[in-house]
Amino acid sequence: LANGLGKSPPMGWNSWNHFWCDINEDIVKAAADALVSSGLSKLGYEYVNIDDCWGEQVRDENGNLQAKNATFPSGIKALADYVHSKGLKLGMYSSAGYYTCSKQMPGSLGYEEQDAKTFALWGVDYLKYDNCYTDGSKPMDRYPIMTRALMKAGRPIYYSLCEWGDMHPALWGFQVGNSWRTTGDITDTFESVMSRADANEVYADYARPGGWNDPDMLEVGNGGMTKDEYIIHFSLWAISKAPLLLGCDVRNLTKDTMDIIGNKEVIAINQDPLGVQAKKVRTDVEIWTAPLSGYRFAVLIVNRDQWPANVTTHLEDFGIPPKTSVTARDLWEHKTLETPLAGNLSANLDPHTCKMYLLQPIS
Ligand code: DGJ
Repeated sequence: LANGLGKSPPMGWNSWNHFWCDINEDIVKAAADALVSSGLSKLGYEYVNIDDCWGEQVRDENGNLQAKNATFPSGIKALADYVHSKGLKLGMYSSAGYYTCSKQMPGSLGYEEQDAKTFALWGVDYLKYDNCYTDGSKPMDRYPIMTRALMKAGRPIYYSLCEWGDMHPALWGFQVGNSWRTTGDITDTFESVMSRADANEVYADYARPGGWNDPDMLEVGNGGMTKDEYIIHFSLWAISKAPLLLGCDVRNLTKDTMDIIGNKEVIAINQDPLGVQAKKVRTDVEIWTAPLSGYRFAVLIVNRDQWPANVTTHLEDFGIPPKTSVTARDLWEHKTLETPLAGNLSANLDPHTCKMYLLQPIS
């Protein structure tokens, strides 16, 4: 969407994957505090996004959405002020339907302008717009109404389309929003991560600065996978130019989780200004690759099998001309290989591990 936002994939935190409907203003404030105190905000994690279940079941007497008094007694404006005072941005959630997906609060269908104005007035910076309890009309008819409403509301608001991929939002999303879901909801399993990455890859050509494919939010740190599997998850999201929205309890980050989500070099791949999403160029031992700015390349080799794998791949497969030497930086070991590569890249991978490299041709 040409609203000047989402020039690189958005980074931040969202309440859903860990807290579901069990949220309140203290959790959101503590999440904002944690992004700052952990150093994550300095790495680019700037959005603090509240998902479903933040509102009262009914609108007020003027038809306005209202924060749930029991859990958000200070109201959303005060929360936005708090989040902004930390140098962060606030994200909110609604649905292009009569209710949100939890059915615990109203959606914005028929109230788009009013709700967009409310969000702008509150100081909201990001809207995730879900697709439940609709009137049965097509998403491509309902989502643009909110696009126009947001553009008229007088505040730059990143617009995240949460149509779960059913009507191929990648094909029409760029005119409508800053990112669009390409998949159903993620769960905290390796199988779920890999299937979402695959479904998202199909639409690689549609992603570019201003509009990104969204394979759903991160599960890193929620406990269902091994560290190596979470490294694969984070690497795939980074190289796929997916939104990096943390879905764990950022108030209680372990060292392992910080090692992953705090990896500056991998984040830099995601935020690279060229904004090209990786494609899978080989499928036996998987190789994902994306060109980067400055004639560099990101390469991710993934072993999704239960047995070890050896792989040798030709640099030409990535678009690097023959006889070119290439420096290779291992982005998880944080080491540049001593000998520049010439022609081939080889790796030995244990089950459910990956290798991620930044390649830079030198001659
Ligand atoms: C469906 C979305 O895909 C999830 O990310 C989450 O927002 C839930 N709805 C909330 O009900």
